Amino acid sequence: MPRMAPGSRLAALAAEAAACTRCPLAATRTQVVFGVGDPEADLMFVGEAPGRDEDLRGEPFVGRSGQLLDRLLAEELGIGRERVYIANVVKCRPPDNRDPRPEEISACRPYLTEQVALIAPRVVVTLGNFATKLLLGTDQGITKLRGSSYPMGKTTLVPTFHPAAALRGGGVVLAQMRADFVRAKQLMGRAA
Ligand code: URA
Repeated sequence: MPRMAPGSRLAALAAEAAACTRCPLAATRTQVVFGVGDPEADLMFVGEAPGRDEDLRGEPFVGRSGQLLDRLLAEELGIGRERVYIANVVKCRPPDNRDPRPEEISACRPYLTEQVALIAPRVVVTLGNFATKLLLGTDQGITKLRGSSYPMGKTTLVPTFHPAAALRGGGVVLAQMRADFVRAKQLMGRAA
């Protein structure tokens, strides 16, 4: 069989995920929110889990947090979301937007691992504690980890706050997120 392009392989994986029953979230979701964007993006964002808006639309970060993400992309990098790839740690909405449980994260992890491998972005920006802890394999919190970048194979990981934290926390958190987006932009320019 000829080698499939990353976009085709991602589409095949999305089709597989659409029927996923690996964890109990399958019973309460409206639909699987697999990911969106350019399959060959240089920059990838990883959030936590779909909320209500995302569960209904089938696309990550389309609610208030997503609007802030779009704004930061436009203001700090000068690009729209179609130029990046956006996914979550967990692909199905946890009921009432509770935190994803360890067994749900473990069940869903292979999808994210495969997404990162297929897209092979130069930079992954993790949004908040869940994505950062999972991809860095650490128990340290985001407040400690952000402000630096971390090599992860051919990719560099840039941890930042979840946009919801900036919506709650205001100016200081937002300013730190802006600085992290600038760091990601600089690292993309520097990559081979
Ligand atoms: N928060 C997330 O972590 N992911 C989304 O897709 C939306 C809100």
